[in-house]
Amino acid sequence: MRIDVVSIFPEYLAPLRLSLIGRAIADGALDLRVHDLRDWTHDRHRTVDDTPYGGGAGMVMRPEPWGEALDALLDAHGAESAGTTDSADGGAAGAAGGAATGETAGDRPVVLVPSPAGVPFTQAQAAELAQRSRLLFACGRYEGIDQRVVEEASARAEVRMVSIGDYVLNGGEVATMVMIEAIARLIPGIIGNPESLAEESYKDGLLEYPVYTKPAQWRGREVPEVLLSGNHGAIARWRRDRRLERTARVRPDLLAALEPELSTADRAAL
Ligand code: ADE
Repeated sequence: MRIDVVSIFPEYLAPLRLSLIGRAIADGALDLRVHDLRDWTHDRHRTVDDTPYGGGAGMVMRPEPWGEALDALLDAHGAESAGTTDSADGGAAGAAGGAATGETAGDRPVVLVPSPAGVPFTQAQAAELAQRSRLLFACGRYEGIDQRVVEEASARAEVRMVSIGDYVLNGGEVATMVMIEAIARLIPGIIGNPESLAEESYKDGLLEYPVYTKPAQWRGREVPEVLLSGNHGAIARWRRDRRLERTARVRPDLLAALEPELSTADRAAL
């Protein structure tokens, strides 16, 4: 997968080069390219913002540098799909099926614009985006990006405004890191142990069960006995009950959505 990120603070994205995602980048499984939006400005001050039409507080990101950035990067995507590059992601793009067959609807580049006004980002979206071969994150600052950029990019890519939660950040960079981490760990071969993906929160709509490790006694607190029993059926039931109980307490909205699918044993836990 190739991921481009455009930001006026490219250094913000540096932590993505650490840990599992960093290894995926080093191994070539993930081709992450971070760009400085100011590289697409032409004035001495490398201006990216201006006052909002209609008045109001704050500044808005001007469309021209964004337009040029998207022209350069989305067109570069197209060129690479046609197999004209020998860059590190040539193989990944080929493996994703884009090289010889041309772009299919499911393989159009996705431009993600982080914004508190976007649709909520979910695990299901992360899983869907992990199947794509090209993503581009457009990190806005100030009051946001001129809306015409979104409209214009829609002709060449699937554009989605996405929010990571009901709070306001200073810009899209941190939200982009959150999304890239959530997406990249779902790309086959990137996470160390695929079994740990199978059991985690949100996959089936329930939160995770509490976990314990050695020692069996710590500061007078015991590990729940069933976990030491070796009885796999009883352990599975105990874990599911804890998930149900925790979800009911912390996220009743998630549990309500699952209500019709709960078994008699599940209902007994609540
Ligand atoms: N930019 C500012 N706040 C944001 C949020 N909650 N989600 C995504 N991008 C943002």
